[in-house]
Amino acid sequence: SDDAWVIFTPSGKRGRVAKGTPVLAAARALGVDLDSVCGGRGICSKCQVAPGYGEFPKHGLHVGAEALSPVNAVEERYDRIRGLKPGRRLGCQACIQGDVVIDVPAESQVHRQVIRKSASERVMEMDPATRPLYVDVAEPSMHEPSGDFERLSAALQSQWQVKGLQADLAVLATLQTALRKGGWKVTAAVQEPGDGTAPRLLALYPGYREAPLYGLAIDLGSTTIAGHLVALDDGSVCASSGLMNPQIRFGEDLMSRVSYAMMNPGGAAEMTAAVRAAMAGLAATLTEEAGVEPEAVVEAVVVCNPVMHHLLLGLDPVELGQAPFALACGASLNLAAAEIGLAPLAPGARAYLLPLIAGHVGADCAAVALSEAPETRDDLSLIVDVGTNAEILLGNRSRVLACSSPTGPAFEGAQISSGQRAAPGAIERIEIDPVTKEPRFRIIGNAHWSDEPGFGTPTITGICGSGIIEAVAEMRIAGLLDASGLIGSADQVGSARCVPMGRTQEYVIHDAAPEGPRVTVTQGDIRAIQLAKSALYAGARLLMDEMGVDKVDRVVLAGAFGAHISPKHAMVLGMIPDVPLEAVTSAGNAAGTGARMALCSRAARRSIEAQVTRIVKIETAIEPRFQEHFVAANAIPHATAPFPELAK
Ligand code: FES
Repeated sequence: SDDAWVIFTPSGKRGRVAKGTPVLAAARALGVDLDSVCGGRGICSKCQVAPGYGEFPKHGLHVGAEALSPVNAVEERYDRIRGLKPGRRLGCQACIQGDVVIDVPAESQVHRQVIRKSASERVMEMDPATRPLYVDVAEPSMHEPSGDFERLSAALQSQWQVKGLQADLAVLATLQTALRKGGWKVTAAVQEPGDGTAPRLLALYPGYREAPLYGLAIDLGSTTIAGHLVALDDGSVCASSGLMNPQIRFGEDLMSRVSYAMMNPGGAAEMTAAVRAAMAGLAATLTEEAGVEPEAVVEAVVVCNPVMHHLLLGLDPVELGQAPFALACGASLNLAAAEIGLAPLAPGARAYLLPLIAGHVGADCAAVALSEAPETRDDLSLIVDVGTNAEILLGNRSRVLACSSPTGPAFEGAQISSGQRAAPGAIERIEIDPVTKEPRFRIIGNAHWSDEPGFGTPTITGICGSGIIEAVAEMRIAGLLDASGLIGSADQVGSARCVPMGRTQEYVIHDAAPEGPRVTVTQGDIRAIQLAKSALYAGARLLMDEMGVDKVDRVVLAGAFGAHISPKHAMVLGMIPDVPLEAVTSAGNAAGTGARMALCSRAARRSIEAQVTRIVKIETAIEPRFQEHFVAANAIPHATAPFPELAK
């Protein structure tokens, strides 16, 4: 007969095709995911397949070596110059001549799966909005007076089915040079957003572009800005970096930045300029570190809280400082990156901002929801992104609730007498002997405990967020603190390490005075931690009330800092509700993971856009029960709530 069976693995898709059909064309006809950047010209090798020969009893097929056409000149040339792995063929060159079983290796799939690290290592499918497309463009002629852009659009339409291409002026400005330099063969970075808007040309590279396109995933926090440079073909992270948010000089927390904008004419604009400059600097650091030319970066995804969002976009944040906390715009945005000062990248690079959930619950929380997907689980998850503002999600398959709670910067080591950011020299772990009341500790950058010989004599600079949480919890366990948080009250056992400080006492963890620092926990520090943990617990409790439950099945601690918190100490402190310790997991920087997912997948963007409309927002600031929960949560672990798991 004139046609033959073709069966693709691993998808199992099959059908009969006319003999002589290239494998790539057969794959397209049968809806098999087989990649191609050069459009079948034998240049990109993205279409590689592995044909099988022999008996395939499962499919009732015998496949002979002649099932595919012999290697042609194009394939031979590619193999000679670039080398094909044994057993591989170029799908655009090899033609089907008889029944055949063809395996599509993972790296030849556009929608290949990547494992992402999170609390529950899940698989994510690549589905980037922007892809490189190699095209042959007709040369201009006196008889055919059309513009270069029009001929490029026509070529993309006929060779790649891209209809109605749009381009910003910044891209048009580079067009003529790229076309001529490439001899009318170019690789076009085309964004097909998949949201109903027209495809866009983001950059044009002369000739065939070998290297992948890249994107930036940016987690814009009030205190720190973290970024990843991600390859858009396989989702791999090529470089990661972070820096302090320069807006700190205008106010430590969000509300003080909003007041700065209210009090100072031009204040908001100053903060906008500062954060844009920092983000551009971060982009430059990342591309430099990875050795990637900035022109290859075609997309950025930014997640942030509402105040940071408005300040980045140059929108006045003043309304966010007062009820009813109206957002200027909460929907997701797909903007020219240059509009928010993110440059130099590809001339037409786009920036996607995740949707905000509400006036107080931001895109960072949406990114956590995207990454942790509580709506896909039967059990009830409490997800806490610990930062200057805690973003809290509670939910399962039936419902997801969200709120944010103003914990203040104490958990990050700020407003703590010996506090410092997590950096080498900072105490990050501590244990206090319940009998002798002597501490042993570990510092960042040293693998040994302080009482081990290998510890040496390092400089100890202070105590970081996870360290102060452990210190307060350990003091409570060792009987140095009472339930109200008082150091050395009459019913508590004293210690030589508790020394008077004014009318209160402080606990000395480390004393290198006079040459070195003293690291102590003061009564004021305990109070700051109590306020922060009460706010966190009260937020969680408010969501539990709303859900009508008094316990949750699991707790996920998220955030760069959340990842370092010891679950046991968080529970001793009463930061989180009582659950079995093994049900507390860490999700690392879940907001950053969510940003990466949105960068690599249009489906992820659509999913979070739909989900935020279903998430129920609870406003802590106007909820009277928040105050009640807050007061009761001030005790360690809690005035009334039982902590039965803690007793075990
Ligand atoms: Fe590019 Fe086959 S599609 S080499």
